[in-house]
Amino acid sequence: MSQAPKRRGKFIVLEGIDGAGKSTHIDFIAATVRSAHGVEVLITREPGGTPLAEKIRELLLHEPMDVQTEVLLVAAGRRDHIQRSIGPALERGDWVLCDRFIDSTRAYQGGGGGVDLGWIDAVNEAACNGVLPDRVILFDLSAHVAAQRRGGRGGQGDRFEAQDVAYFERVRSVYLTQMRPGSQEKTAILNAELDVSRIQKELQKIIINL
Ligand code: TYD
Repeated sequence: MSQAPKRRGKFIVLEGIDGAGKSTHIDFIAATVRSAHGVEVLITREPGGTPLAEKIRELLLHEPMDVQTEVLLVAAGRRDHIQRSIGPALERGDWVLCDRFIDSTRAYQGGGGGVDLGWIDAVNEAACNGVLPDRVILFDLSAHVAAQRRGGRGGQGDRFEAQDVAYFERVRSVYLTQMRPGSQEKTAILNAELDVSRIQKELQKIIINL
């Protein structure tokens, strides 16, 4: 007897400026999705997520390059990530939880780097082949608070973390005020300056309604 085809999984993306706390919450989000919806969850990230895209991540984070090259490289990694990992997982009926996706390119290369958002959208469209987030959770906080949090992390950081507060203010502004056409109703904005337990309560509400 043939089995009924599985329902396509949902694609959830976490966004926010560096220091917003996405990594603190990702395991909690995955566990809540599993228990609320009874599905397998693939946790992944961009740039990265496949062996090829992880190599591209290293270049992006550490090799000097111009900002258009950043867009094209991140898109090449994204295409590989979708073809080999995200797409097949969604087809199996698994849910995908991705730390950053296309809105990061708009916010960082568009807002931070000044690249035309229309061009970024066109490149993303070519890379994504119709695979787009079902829900985006935006961890929002002021660029100053984020800088203080990053300062506390120590370590060498990367090309993006080395940017000044004004850069991160521009990144935040694209996230909040120049959203991708059609994405406003798919985006939940969380106040990432709240304490962890308050944020988890908000996350639970968002996840249960997915
Ligand atoms: P992230 O994994 O959040 O950094 P960390 O491991 O330090 O928490 O993201 C790496 C960096 O990549 C982040 O500073 C933003 C940048 N980035 C872009 O500039 N454009 C993009 O399209 C993506 C996906 C990430």
